[in-house]
Amino acid sequence: MPFLSQISLLPVHEDSYLNEIPSIKAGFQMNLKHNVTFFVGENGSGKSTLLEGLASACGFSLRGGSRNHNVGTESYGNEESALAPYLHLTWTPRRINRGFFMRAESFFNFASHIDELAKACPEILDAYGGRSLHQQSHGESFLALFNNHFQAGIYILDEPEAALSPARLLAFMAVINQLEQSGRAQFLIATHSPMLMCYPGATIYEFKNDGVAETTYQDTEHFNLTKSFLNNPEMYLRHLFKPL
Ligand SMILES: Nc1ncnc2c1ncn2[C@@H]1O[C@H](COP(=O)(O)OP(=O)(O)O)[C@@H](O)[C@H]1O
Ligand SMILES: [Mg+2]
Repeated sequence: MPFLSQISLLPVHEDSYLNEIPSIKAGFQMNLKHNVTFFVGENGSGKSTLLEGLASACGFSLRGGSRNHNVGTESYGNEESALAPYLHLTWTPRRINRGFFMRAESFFNFASHIDELAKACPEILDAYGGRSLHQQSHGESFLALFNNHFQAGIYILDEPEAALSPARLLAFMAVINQLEQSGRAQFLIATHSPMLMCYPGATIYEFKNDGVAETTYQDTEHFNLTKSFLNNPEMYLRHLFKPL
């Protein structure tokens, strides 16, 4: 049973730019039945806006990290969530504030922040694979973080696949599986990865022009387009490219 079991949107102030995002203008109520939920949809459809709102509601820094991390001083994305005041969250049995928010673009800052902390307390790197995250490749450091840091709590991840090769993505899915089976971890993930969204039993919400609707991975454009492309890339591209 997920800690966060329902996300509802309250009416948004009419002057807010949020009303220009179709999925938000239409309003939504999402029931999270599984410990893994994916948010899918076109670029600009409002996925990151929602994740920021959720992270803010959990008390995580919008720069990425957990409640105890305030990563870097540079600005990466919005500093405050415009959406958070309009989110109504239902927690079972109660609100939890352990966990992590991972913005795709703030991972570098997070790595620097951990290095700073490790200067005073080198043991801190034990939780991140024993080495500075900067000394590991993007994919390695991502997995080091997932393997060593994630234990219990709510994990809000924005396009985690960006750093991972297909093989590492599978390893990442195994990490998710270990954690969510323990019943102590819930994952809320925005993704474009057709592989990731195949996670068994996951709830998938698609952000569309007429609102947010539950779907299955087999029905997503991501899955179908990728599958048909990989079945015959040459034919696909022949139709796409037009001779001058
Ligand atoms: N501070 C802001 N002011 C105005 N528009 C914004 C602001 N932040 C995001 N947007 C717009 O909100 C829309 C949704 O963005 P986002 O949630 O990042 O989409 P996604 O993550 O699905 O690609 C985009 O059109 C974006 O330009
Ligand atoms: Mg986004």
